[in-house]
Amino acid sequence: MAMENMKQFLFALSAAGAFGFVAIIFVLRWVLHFKEGLAWDGGLAEFNWHPVLIVTGFIFLQGIAIIVYRLPWTWQCSKLIMKFIHAGLNLAAFIFAVISMVAVFDFHNAAKIPNMYSLHSWLGLSAVILYGLQLVLGVGLYLIPVTPVSWRAAFMPIHVYSGLFLFTSVIAVALMGITEKLIFGLSNPKYKDSPPEAIFVNVLGILLVVFGALVLWIATRTSWKRPSDQILHSLHTNRGSEDNSKAGPALSELAEGANPEADGDVRKRNSKSES
Ligand code: HEM
Ligand code: HEM
Repeated sequence: MAMENMKQFLFALSAAGAFGFVAIIFVLRWVLHFKEGLAWDGGLAEFNWHPVLIVTGFIFLQGIAIIVYRLPWTWQCSKLIMKFIHAGLNLAAFIFAVISMVAVFDFHNAAKIPNMYSLHSWLGLSAVILYGLQLVLGVGLYLIPVTPVSWRAAFMPIHVYSGLFLFTSVIAVALMGITEKLIFGLSNPKYKDSPPEAIFVNVLGILLVVFGALVLWIATRTSWKRPSDQILHSLHTNRGSEDNSKAGPALSELAEGANPEADGDVRKRNSKSES
């Protein structure tokens, strides 16, 4: 499938995949090597599920869910299939986040530590609740066939904005959690004395920031967007593949709701002025 700047896309995608993968290895090594390991026993090993499930699910899976429409080799799949994949990955991310909440609340209750006292916990729980709302609204608007195309169109900029905002917030909340845990958990030597665990986990934080930055970059390039099904059809039938001026009228038809398949996404694909 033709795509502008395919090499840059593949570079950004592999870098995102590599940073995400290494972040997962780092969080596993943190809890298995430096901390108490993983168990479901009300103790610190149960708490450890909290960072592990957040990094693998709420951050990594969510990041993949966000860029899944951008993979050019999926452009021949129907939009409906891609919506199921996008929704399914986001649902999996949500389930991981909920189990990670259960782990930390269960640990706090067993150890008689108060709940919900920190800014980390306030922002974190808000992010999980809003993410659940985004999921329900996403299914209601874009999967249930009765939703009018005009509603889909009206909500798409909000869906994209709130999705990217939530993804960014989740990474910020994870960085707060990592910092808290290092300050609480390290004594003799303390965090300020830079023991190996502190350096290692600081690097985990950097990996998460770079993963987030790459996902946001990929998800905001207009020229890497999945072509609308109508434009794909005209490309396959060899109409309008030569120049962008042919894609223009197809898009303006979309804007008027002429295509019932459309999700009302009429962001203009002017690849020359973008990126
Ligand atoms: C506690 C959410 C990531 C470390 C909590 C609590 C919530 C929460 C709601 C409060 C539990 C209670 O009051 O019983 C989140 C969310 C995250 C996230 C939504 C992802 C965006 C992390 C990460 C770490 C972490 C990556 C790293 C270890 C902690 C610690 C506590 C905690 C140490 C106990 C202290 C406190 O309540 O602030 N988290 N967390 N969190 N979390 Fe996270
Ligand atoms: C697009 C986030 C759930 C349908 C997007 C985009 C983001 C996003 C950031 C922009 C991607 C891009 O421009 O390439 C989220 C988050 C969700 C969620 C964080 C869950 C919490 C859903 C659900 C559906 C859905 C359940 C239902 C099918 C769509 C559609 C698009 C989209 C149709 C437009 C794709 C395109 O531009 O071709 N979503 N989404 N989303 N999302 Fe979601």
